[in-house]
Amino acid sequence: MKTDTIIINARQIATLASGGKAKYGAQMDDANIIENAGIAIKDGIIIDLGCSKVIEDKYDWEEAIDASGKILTPGFVDSHSHPVFVHTRENEFAARLAGKTYVEIALAGGGIRSSIDSVRNATEEELVEHSLPRIQRMIALGTTTLEAKSGYGLSTESELKQLRAIERLNQILPIDLVPTFMGAHEYPTEYRTDHQSYINILCNEMLPAVKEQGIAEFCDIFTEAHVFGIEESRRILNEAKRLGFKLKMHADEIEAIGGAELAAKMACVSADHLGACSDAGILAMKTAHVIPVLLPATLFSLQAKTYARARNMIEQGLPVAIATDYNPGSCNCDSMSLTMSLACLQMGMSPIEALSAATINAACAINREQSIGSLEVGKLADIIIWDIPNLNFIPYHLGSSYISKVLKKGKTVYSAPHYGIK
Ligand code: NIG
Ligand code: FE
Repeated sequence: MKTDTIIINARQIATLASGGKAKYGAQMDDANIIENAGIAIKDGIIIDLGCSKVIEDKYDWEEAIDASGKILTPGFVDSHSHPVFVHTRENEFAARLAGKTYVEIALAGGGIRSSIDSVRNATEEELVEHSLPRIQRMIALGTTTLEAKSGYGLSTESELKQLRAIERLNQILPIDLVPTFMGAHEYPTEYRTDHQSYINILCNEMLPAVKEQGIAEFCDIFTEAHVFGIEESRRILNEAKRLGFKLKMHADEIEAIGGAELAAKMACVSADHLGACSDAGILAMKTAHVIPVLLPATLFSLQAKTYARARNMIEQGLPVAIATDYNPGSCNCDSMSLTMSLACLQMGMSPIEALSAATINAACAINREQSIGSLEVGKLADIIIWDIPNLNFIPYHLGSSYISKVLKKGKTVYSAPHYGIK
């Protein structure tokens, strides 16, 4: 049978197979491994997967990748990021080390607000130029699908410009970007003392304009005491829902103000952060099938004393996902494998639970579980080829990358330089 590409002789393929569903409870600790395995790929899709010898004999191929001694996993799905901005904010990192908190910096006019002017003054092309190398680094670290939010424009024109930049990046880059509108990320300086007027603009102008242009799939909001409270969030989310957006929330990151409960009421696809989420919030998410997306690299960067209660959530049967939250302020982390390490070290997840959270459950957090997040026949051939002895090695190692190749839809989009390490 004719095919485009085969990958053969993999020592293991961690398929994360789940039949297009999230992994719950004990399933999260099973990577569904096949030993001595191969994959056949046609038109970017996995058409066969199993014993390497059988795959090799069954297909006439154009390209064969010998994965001898290597381990394959699905490409990482980074389901929460803010990569479109102009300048980085390492000054705030230094200020936090000197004793200021994230909220103090934000209330003093720093934080998200300090990213706004440069984004408003940039052209769409400049935004693309700034963001492109950031996402290329993520690809080299194994990310094959990236959710990307607006939220550094905070005016109709600048939010649309950011979303157009995401659309353009999606065309230029070999991976898939999932666009999210986040005009409710902060109040811009001109509405600092008049929140109602900004919320009116969000509901009456921004959301309809974004909808009309069809350039965002999700609507997200920063629900926290110092930004959008519960009632304000409810109004914005209701309007977004009415217009047909799928919903996400930054919920209960710093304080448990009922964000997770609201995510459940609004049937959000995911509620993200949840560092301070209450027992009632966890239960509400479970009942309403909201995916909890935990962002341990953010809490690590903010030197948090406590983390989201991943163990409790997994034990209660919630399909926990993890993501980088890559952004210029609270978390400048572009690495899903470092995020896995932090999920293990700071939240008590096992290496395989962290892998499930970074792949199949992350795919559920962006409604892509039918096409990505696991290696199964019919899914996209989004694959990482690792030069590692076993799966535990992924979060065990901190720092450099042990990725040999990254494939997106069957095409090599990153190949490691040869270090002389076999
Ligand atoms: O997810 N919490 C809100 N948004 C980002 C922070 C963005 C920023 O500080 O620029 C986050 O942590
Ligand atoms: Fe975020």
